[in-house]
Amino acid sequence: MVGPSSQEFGTKLAKRMGLPLLAVTTTEFPDGEIKYKFEEALSGLEVLLVQSAYPPSDKHYMQLFLASHHMSQEGARVHAVIPYLGYARQAKAFLPGEIVSLGIIAHLLRSVGVNRVSTVDMHSAEGLALFSMPVYSVSAVPALAQYVKTHVKLEDPVIVAPDAGSVKRTQAFASLYGAKSIQFKKSRDRVTGRIKMEAGKVSVKGKDCVIVDDVITTGGTVAASTELLRKSGARKVVSACVHAVLLGETYDKLIKAGVDEIIGTNTVPSRVSKVDATEPMAAYLRTIVAEKR
Ligand code: R5P
Repeated sequence: MVGPSSQEFGTKLAKRMGLPLLAVTTTEFPDGEIKYKFEEALSGLEVLLVQSAYPPSDKHYMQLFLASHHMSQEGARVHAVIPYLGYARQAKAFLPGEIVSLGIIAHLLRSVGVNRVSTVDMHSAEGLALFSMPVYSVSAVPALAQYVKTHVKLEDPVIVAPDAGSVKRTQAFASLYGAKSIQFKKSRDRVTGRIKMEAGKVSVKGKDCVIVDDVITTGGTVAASTELLRKSGARKVVSACVHAVLLGETYDKLIKAGVDEIIGTNTVPSRVSKVDATEPMAAYLRTIVAEKR
């Protein structure tokens, strides 16, 4: 079933896998509440429910919960494919009293009948442990690296991790691309959210830099990294991320900050969705089908 937030992703995924689309009529009330009408019998079906939880995450999760609950009550097995897993950043309490939001999302998914979850580049591997059902995070980083290699002209490239959390992804990107990687040190004030960025040791003077991250939300991380790179004499700055949430004026803010090009995937539909993440997702899902045979 292609959920309302993932029309393009879900349709492409179904086509890639040769799966039929479930017939569902979706309407929205004027206040934004969704109404579903399922047009076919569900009992005994194995359904891939494709619904990304990008902002407004609460609404997109609610749309997923309603559909999943109904389908499981009617006797279908629901495997939720959530290309962008909203709330994944809060996979632990950073300050006393904070809620582990992702744990509650995992609990809610289970309670509405989801029995398996697949996502793309979950914010941190820590989050996987919060699910009491099979959960897998596919990586779109190889597809991003391939896109940059094929479509972006770079000279003497350096791949940049803007913070500790993005080091593994950046190293994977760098090794697939065949370039060196460096790491910046980012610290975030846990109360105000303000970030401070410090450069690594390697010189970027005259080099083309690719900043790799899982998500761009307000662009604060990429803007601060770009500022540092430009100050250090970088020639070109490209920002490659999996989930281009790009809230409000973020795209313009990043271009203004000196980013030459922004590249994202279609886990979140955006003006920079240049890379198709249904390819790694389909490759993974095929392994489950093969396992069951
Ligand atoms: C942080 O840990 C993430 O990997 C991203 O760097 C961050 O969430 C991006 O947010 P923003 O675009 O608001 O700086």
